[in-house]
Amino acid sequence: MLHGKRVILGISGGIAAYKGPALVRALVEAGAEVRVILTRSAVEFVAPLALQAVSHNAVGLDLFDPAYEAQIGHIELARWADAVLVAPTTANLLARLAYGLCDDLLTTVLCATRAPVVLAPAMNSQMLAHPAVQANLALLAAREGHLIVQPDQGALACQEIGPGRMPDPEVLIAALAGALSPRRLEGRRALITAGPTREAIDPVRFLSNPSSGKMGFAVARAAALLGARVTLVAGPVSLPDPVGVERIDVVSAEEMFEAVMARVQHPDPDQRPEVVVKAAAVADWRPAQVADHKVKKTEGEQLTLVMERTRDILAGLGALPDDRRPILVGFAAETRDLDRYALDKLNRKNLDMIVANQVSGPTSAFGADLNAVTLFDRQGGRVDLGPAPKDEIAAGIWGHLLAISPQLGARSRPE
Ligand SMILES: Cc1cc2nc3c(=O)[nH]c(=O)nc-3n(C[C@H](O)[C@H](O)[C@H](O)COP(=O)(O)O)c2cc1C
Repeated sequence: MLHGKRVILGISGGIAAYKGPALVRALVEAGAEVRVILTRSAVEFVAPLALQAVSHNAVGLDLFDPAYEAQIGHIELARWADAVLVAPTTANLLARLAYGLCDDLLTTVLCATRAPVVLAPAMNSQMLAHPAVQANLALLAAREGHLIVQPDQGALACQEIGPGRMPDPEVLIAALAGALSPRRLEGRRALITAGPTREAIDPVRFLSNPSSGKMGFAVARAAALLGARVTLVAGPVSLPDPVGVERIDVVSAEEMFEAVMARVQHPDPDQRPEVVVKAAAVADWRPAQVADHKVKKTEGEQLTLVMERTRDILAGLGALPDDRRPILVGFAAETRDLDRYALDKLNRKNLDMIVANQVSGPTSAFGADLNAVTLFDRQGGRVDLGPAPKDEIAAGIWGHLLAISPQLGARSRPE
């Protein structure tokens, strides 16, 4: 998510500073090169040596340290950064930053940089509610290039329960990636489906497939990073909510059909998605009868199920009149003749683009973190993506869709 990005992690002197080394690890695992700057107070809570070891870079502590300044001057450091994350941001640092004080290395770099700044305020709930803190937060939220990540609710170190906790690393990383992303889908509404569906046989058994939902969740995350308002309709998967995405959980193909159609045919046109990506592995058939009670194995050596077709969501969307039809992207998971089946589905279901996926053999996509796909579009274009992490594949899918659908370009840009 932060591949090749240069990130300054500023740590100020809140209790959550002790989470610094784990945050650095997560940033590095997300692909970032990290340089850490600590305030004087932060050194009371976390050891610089630990941060140096996990970031593989010297830690900045003092604006007037000749050795550090010789290694990388504070202005050079401010220019080096693609983004600055301050986590935790203390009430004191918010005040200093709001008023442009430059009385240590971190605040001086924050004033000198033109990179996006992401602030994660974390403190006792009463401190957070103080009018001065709220006024500083409002000032900084309105400042160009500054993004505030709302603190979480929960048990605080001061043994109170309330708002003020520093969010988990994945939330901070998503905020950083969002601050770095060109907001090419700003103002657009996207609906993504993900995961498998389950079709009940009886109250304790179902038919399903091995889809993990990872690809669809990555597509939803990528759209949110590009600035879209994203609804994710998810089958039963065990994945955390993507940051900044509205998630609707469903179980069966019928429930998924209802959830998608309700949004695509919303009475208010301004609520309808303008683009739908159907990454879910939806069951094509379901048992025609669902037993009221558990089918007992004493009922026989064999069990015959009569199956009936489920409603086809993509075909339903493709058949909408042109002025009601969102831009449509389907997925084709095939075990053979991938190109032929994918192109046939693209045309038959009236799609704008199809993402073709080989789901057997060494590049099997189900459950994996890497994927390799081929995109086919209605204009006859063909693009191979991967093997690559699913987040990169997702970014590639949106990149190609934006290239072939100029009407999808952002409505308004924040800059
Ligand atoms: C044990 C302890 C925990 C603290 N935790 C926080 C905190 O979570 N958030 C905060 O804003 N200040 C906290 N403070 C107060 C800051 O350390 C203090 O305001 C300091 O001046 C911040 O300096 P800095 O912003 O330069 O890092 C804490 C102080 C102590 C003694």
